[in-house]
Amino acid sequence: MRKAAIIGMGVISSTHLAAIQANPRITLAAVCDIDESKRSAAPLGVPFYTDFRTMILETRPDVVHICLPHCLHVPVSMEAAELGVHVFCEKPMAMNTRQAEEFAAFEAAHPDIHMGICLQNRFNDSVEMLKGLIDSGEYGAVLGVRGTVPWYREKEYYEQSPWRGKWESAGGGCMINQAVHTLDLMYLLGGEIRKLKAVTAQLLDYGIEVEDTVAAALTYENGARGMFLATIANYDNESVQLSLRLEKASFVIMNNTLYRIGPDGSGELLCQDGKLPGSKFYYGSSHKKLIDLFYQALEDGSQDYLHVSQALMSIRLIDAIQESGRTGKTVFI
Ligand SMILES: NC(=O)c1ccc[n+]([C@@H]2O[C@H](COP(=O)([O-])OP(=O)(O)OC[C@H]3O[C@@H](n4cnc5c(N)ncnc54)[C@H](O)[C@@H]3O)[C@@H](O)[C@H]2O)c1
Repeated sequence: MRKAAIIGMGVISSTHLAAIQANPRITLAAVCDIDESKRSAAPLGVPFYTDFRTMILETRPDVVHICLPHCLHVPVSMEAAELGVHVFCEKPMAMNTRQAEEFAAFEAAHPDIHMGICLQNRFNDSVEMLKGLIDSGEYGAVLGVRGTVPWYREKEYYEQSPWRGKWESAGGGCMINQAVHTLDLMYLLGGEIRKLKAVTAQLLDYGIEVEDTVAAALTYENGARGMFLATIANYDNESVQLSLRLEKASFVIMNNTLYRIGPDGSGELLCQDGKLPGSKFYYGSSHKKLIDLFYQALEDGSQDYLHVSQALMSIRLIDAIQESGRTGKTVFI
């Protein structure tokens, strides 16, 4: 039996809690939040702490789940790992490229500690199947990739947790917070990216510091072109869409379903993901799958979760898009 603890009992913690409680080989040892009012989020009988160091030292969990504001991901992960605890950290893996590289170096220097990053959509059945189809070579090279994230966040989302709207605590806006998953998949499925040009904008009058809308044109190493569009200024949360054109076929993932698109535009359903129940369906359903894989790795040394080093490119791309948005220039990766 492995002992888990959660640091940060805000919105995403309930998804981690559900995955922990559904795994018969994990027991929840403790939870922690600096906000006393989150005490009620601790399940019955599970101790609540306001200091994560005290929690680790007193309850000695095998794993801490880091569900904190972005600025705390790397420092708290490192401190927990130094105390001998495995770390499962929510996305983004860091605030910027410099910090991401430090974290990857730290991971390499601590081979006995498992450090996983929660970019769970990589583990969606639809994504895994499409990656397999691309890697098989059956459909030829990738010619184009489009990722669209048409989401909506109300003003209260930033008022409830003000860290989300600030550079120093969030490291950015709709890209690092919401669309990082899609950008990561555009890299995973499309391959290395050589350069990009982007615009970043604030379309909503929320009085936040960070961007709420991004458009970027990418050029892949093999010459393929990419288009990334992300906003939290849509009228509602609609399905993320990933479209890939290969030499011999086109594929689309939307509504968590993978289709092969025929020459007449019709879609042949290839794979459908499980759907997260409730209003947060747009998170994707793979938190549990990834958390199970992470704990499996503790048992048998399998490496099938997402390592810190594997999440590096998502942060490099975000930094490049921010730089291009600021300067109006093409940025080489
Ligand atoms: N993987 C996904 O699909 C997904 C979805 C939503 C959120 N997230 C990520 O989860 C993380 C948390 O987001 P959220 O929406 O739950 O935020 P939130 O603001 O609702 O929760 C963060 C919690 O951390 C607590 N906290 C702050 N500093 C602390 C400290 N030093 N020690 C202990 N607790 C502290 C806050 O009091 C708050 O309760 C972010 O990184 C976010 O990007 C991931």
